[in-house]
Amino acid sequence: MQKITAAITGVAGYLPDYVLTNQELERLVETNDEWITSRTGIKTRHILKGENMGSSHMGVKAVQSLLEKTNTNPADIDLVICATTTPDFVFPATATLIAAEVGAFNCFSYDIQAACSGFLYAMWAGAQFIKAGTYKKVVVVGADKMSAIVDYTDRATSILFGDGAGAIMLEPSQDEDGIHDAFLRTDGRYWAHLHQKAGGSRRPPSIETVQNREHYIYQEGAVVFKHAVTGMAQASEEILKRNNLKGSEVDWLVPHQANKRIIEATAQKMGLPEEKIMLVIQKYGNTTNASIPLCLRDYESQLKKGQKLVFAAFGGGFAWGSIYATWAYNG
Ligand code: UT7
Repeated sequence: MQKITAAITGVAGYLPDYVLTNQELERLVETNDEWITSRTGIKTRHILKGENMGSSHMGVKAVQSLLEKTNTNPADIDLVICATTTPDFVFPATATLIAAEVGAFNCFSYDIQAACSGFLYAMWAGAQFIKAGTYKKVVVVGADKMSAIVDYTDRATSILFGDGAGAIMLEPSQDEDGIHDAFLRTDGRYWAHLHQKAGGSRRPPSIETVQNREHYIYQEGAVVFKHAVTGMAQASEEILKRNNLKGSEVDWLVPHQANKRIIEATAQKMGLPEEKIMLVIQKYGNTTNASIPLCLRDYESQLKKGQKLVFAAFGGGFAWGSIYATWAYNG
């Protein structure tokens, strides 16, 4: 039987209109543009404003744009996977809302929750359905309205996150180009360093949890930073080794965008120069599950068929990993 490879055949994204600058944050919390820029690389982030709009609102826009770009009839979609840490509801899945809104009624859909590594986990999961020959069109969306769980009185976290969504289409490859390998890991012993304290089944919402501000992101930044640098580097080195690749052979590093310093440390370990790193953090901040597809969207025009891409992510859980892919079309 002929081997099937899952190819990324299209990318799209969506960012809400409102732009939150470092200058506006200076008016909200005790911070300054110089600190934010030098410690994180972030200048602006987009925020979804308005009542009754969750992550699915942005996911829908990203998928609609993807369907248009790839000339896809929504009825032909087999599966929609949404990676999100800020679902519209505890249930049903945000993927289900997105599928309905874009008119994908011949598919099944579900969410993946792996914090900032969710998009890589979802991409790898989607690729398996294509590789097995089970499905022909899988949409993977990463969508997060981080502003819904950011405490805008906490300077340590409010400066980091932004809202957005990105989506990719996975289809059987015409040749050998596509998603080849993944190295994914979790270590739940570290969960407490980065989590939302209440709102789940362990600590359901109550007046007390709201008064204690427990529905926001809690992060021990320095601990996460240290593990992120080693985790992203380990995952990238591992994927290179397993695929007999030297760092110099990699065309693009597609990293989760949490902190410019973490990204640069990973690239340095791989021996990659700056021009091979996809970087959008300065414009969008940390958009969690949207960061990787938004990188692909913004760099799509520079991508060439056959180029070698290493994806890498690290986040809450801890959950981290890397994926090796070759690009399937000229951007
Ligand atoms: O995507 C999910 C995974 N998340 C990550 O990968 C994030 C990893 N962590 C980080 O990116 C960094 O740890 C942060 C950007 C969150 C913080 O940078 P840092 O260099 O680790 O700073 P720090 O937390 O060690 O704080 C250093 C100092 C502290 O002051 P003192 O105690 O030295 O006087 C903080 O209070 O910087 C202070 N500080 C700030 N100052 C101005 C913290 N936040 C701010 C701020 N503005 N916004």
